[in-house]
Amino acid sequence: MFILKKFNTVKRFLKIIFLEIHDLYDCVSGKRKSHIPPTRLMFDGPASLDDFLKSGDVFMSSFVQILHPEPSIRVLDIGSGIGRHTLPLTKLIDSHGRYDGIEIVIAGVKWCRKHISNRFPNFRFQHVDIYNGAYNPRGKILPEEFVFPFEDNSFDIVMALSVFTHMTPDSVQNYLKESYRVLKPGGKAYFTYFLINDDSKKRLGDQNNTQPFEQTPDGYWTTNHQIPEAAIAYDEDVVRRFYSDSNLKISKIYYGSWCGRKKFTDYQDIVLASKK
Ligand SMILES: C[S@@+](CC[C@H](N)C(=O)[O-])C[C@H]1O[C@@H](n2cnc3c(N)ncnc32)[C@H](O)[C@@H]1O
Repeated sequence: MFILKKFNTVKRFLKIIFLEIHDLYDCVSGKRKSHIPPTRLMFDGPASLDDFLKSGDVFMSSFVQILHPEPSIRVLDIGSGIGRHTLPLTKLIDSHGRYDGIEIVIAGVKWCRKHISNRFPNFRFQHVDIYNGAYNPRGKILPEEFVFPFEDNSFDIVMALSVFTHMTPDSVQNYLKESYRVLKPGGKAYFTYFLINDDSKKRLGDQNNTQPFEQTPDGYWTTNHQIPEAAIAYDEDVVRRFYSDSNLKISKIYYGSWCGRKKFTDYQDIVLASKK
């Protein structure tokens, strides 16, 4: 036990040194501009600067193709992280539009305020101390009870990218109901998931599948039974039921490459829905 603990500490230490050197290289070589976070601060997914930038580009191209957004749109981004998908939006949303990000990890909110809001004052970020087993295990607010701090009918688009893939069923259901409430009539919900259906289920054992999900008795799938929020998948039928319970009407599902599909839109499955 003692040796294992020591080994993990050394591993963590080596990882930090590696990331520091990488960040120094990205900075000195001019590859990383000052508004892009260093890799060591990317707590929310990307493993490198290239990953961060590529993921932003792929998102932006799908977002524009699917939604055809106007520059004056009002967007709510649930779980804005360290701004991977916010930065590309600064090129789209003009001063007549507005972006609100809510995030449970304070470091992400601080970075985004300092490096994004300072340049784009209509991009705002709020910290909310919500519990999440993987991201904020000391959080005080339960996600299944959280009320979004916005008025009814405020947003053209509500998005959550790789967020419901870290949330348990009651919380996802609450967030869908809250999204419905804050969307304007006709507004769009752009949320990503890992969806289990006949096709993805068949692929779970493939070598190109990136998420080895196992079913739990609690109505979802996970890759980590100790901390399920590390990665959560839902049966597609379950997600469809959640949407009809929250009155959001699904218009299309764009399947992702996560399970090794050769034809895909982005990495995760995108569910596009609207407020009836
Ligand atoms: C994989 S990261 C994705 C971050 C960002 N959306 C992106 O795509 O770059 C998941 C994010 O969801 C946030 N998160 C987890 N549970 C949340 C909750 N209940 N409410 C809001 N954000 C949450 C985490 O803190 C983390 O920043």
